[in-house]
Amino acid sequence: MLKACIFDMDGVLVDTAKHHFRAWHRMAATLSIPFTEEQNEELKGVSRVDSLEKILSWGNLVLDNHKKHELMEIKNKWYLEYVNEIKSSDMLPGTQRFLSELKVAHIKLGLGSSSKNSMLILDKLGLRDLFDSIVDGNKIHFSKPHPEVFLKAAQELNVHPSEAVVFEDAVSGVDAAKAGGFYCVGIGRKEVLANADFVIGSLNEINLEKLKVEITSS
Ligand code: BG6
Ligand code: MG
Repeated sequence: MLKACIFDMDGVLVDTAKHHFRAWHRMAATLSIPFTEEQNEELKGVSRVDSLEKILSWGNLVLDNHKKHELMEIKNKWYLEYVNEIKSSDMLPGTQRFLSELKVAHIKLGLGSSSKNSMLILDKLGLRDLFDSIVDGNKIHFSKPHPEVFLKAAQELNVHPSEAVVFEDAVSGVDAAKAGGFYCVGIGRKEVLANADFVIGSLNEINLEKLKVEITSS
């Protein structure tokens, strides 16, 4: 029985993934580390600190904690500049409609995001009040693909993972959802999100009826 839907934020509800990429790319350039869109797939869903560690390892660079802290602050400053202008029209297609449909049907709504900026973004979009539980990078110890973020959201929503569906655009996020025992809808390309139970291009391609049919036929 479907009782809750838990959404990743960046790349699922709002088109912020491109801003994360832009900011990391700019930071990597200052260190002369080449950084491609393909590598960026590996950073999606991954915490700020783990993303930095990955980029540094691609450049075979070892830095002390002070310098790493400084780099993360600069990246976040640039990221915040890029998202400063975000408004409800930057929501990805289907977001508002699907969340409203679930709300009306009394399906609980959760957020499961690695971002420490999630409250700010949700407020800019006017979405914060729709969620019954918000678990983000400030509340967790382990980055996706660890399932902590989704398990915590399910716990706050008072549902079992088998009663909830996770929506994810990142490989690490799909793996986190599956590791936690959730049914997972991938948002993006099938070739990339091969571990998801089914994949759609955006929330525009789903409604509650269709979701229930997919879950039952799986
Ligand atoms: C995830 C993004 O949602 O949040 C990652 O997919 C990002 O790209 C991570 O690194 C952490 O975000 P923030 O906003 O805390 O730097
Ligand atoms: Mg994401």
